[in-house]
Amino acid sequence: MWADGYDASVGLSDNDKKYPFAGYKNILNFIYDDVVLRNCRKIFDIGFGTAILSSKLYEKGIDVYGQDFSTEMVKIAKEKMPNAKLFCKDFSNGVAQELKNTKYDAIIATYSLHHLMDNEKVIFINELLELLCDEGIIYIGDVAFNTANELEKCRTDSGDEWDDEEFYFVYEELKKHYNNSEFIKISHCAGVIKIYGIK
Ligand SMILES: C[S@@+](CC[C@H](N)C(=O)[O-])C[C@H]1O[C@@H](n2cnc3c(N)ncnc32)[C@H](O)[C@@H]1O
Repeated sequence: MWADGYDASVGLSDNDKKYPFAGYKNILNFIYDDVVLRNCRKIFDIGFGTAILSSKLYEKGIDVYGQDFSTEMVKIAKEKMPNAKLFCKDFSNGVAQELKNTKYDAIIATYSLHHLMDNEKVIFINELLELLCDEGIIYIGDVAFNTANELEKCRTDSGDEWDDEEFYFVYEELKKHYNNSEFIKISHCAGVIKIYGIK
């Protein structure tokens, strides 16, 4: 139901520098620049939504694969990227079977993985690591914090706006599972986590 008004509502919250989307455009730009700089040829976008990011990479000639469980989002994304390989599947059941036989230079998830609980995130990320090419990277751009204290401050400051049904990344916890990773803070409530493939 959110598909039609999604781009507009994200823009409003980002422009106002407010939780949850403060830093949204900078997150997408950061990932776009890094993927292009690394000359990635094949990417997998998890929860691609209206394909704001992956359609820009598609326009650069990059092969786009994706998984999203919203038929409406898939329809919008398919219009922007007719040759992309997009599958309408729930990622809480893992990666779609059709996407498991390919290796990707980059796997991207922007504002989607907060729907998984912390233990589910680790199981899913471990599955994604198996799908990376040598030198491949997972990019997670989302509402995310370096520390649990920063998350708590944002929760308090956001008041009624805070969404208790979402589970945001706290990097000091995640890095216990992935020492080959880094966190790039983009706004008071968002950042990019880069997890490097295991060689
Ligand atoms: C907030 S939107 C983000 C869209 C896009 N990545 C962006 O940055 O603008 C979240 C997307 O994740 C998808 N999504 C959420 N939970 C999902 C799940 N369990 N399986 C597959 N897709 C899911 C939604 O359908 C939606 O398109």
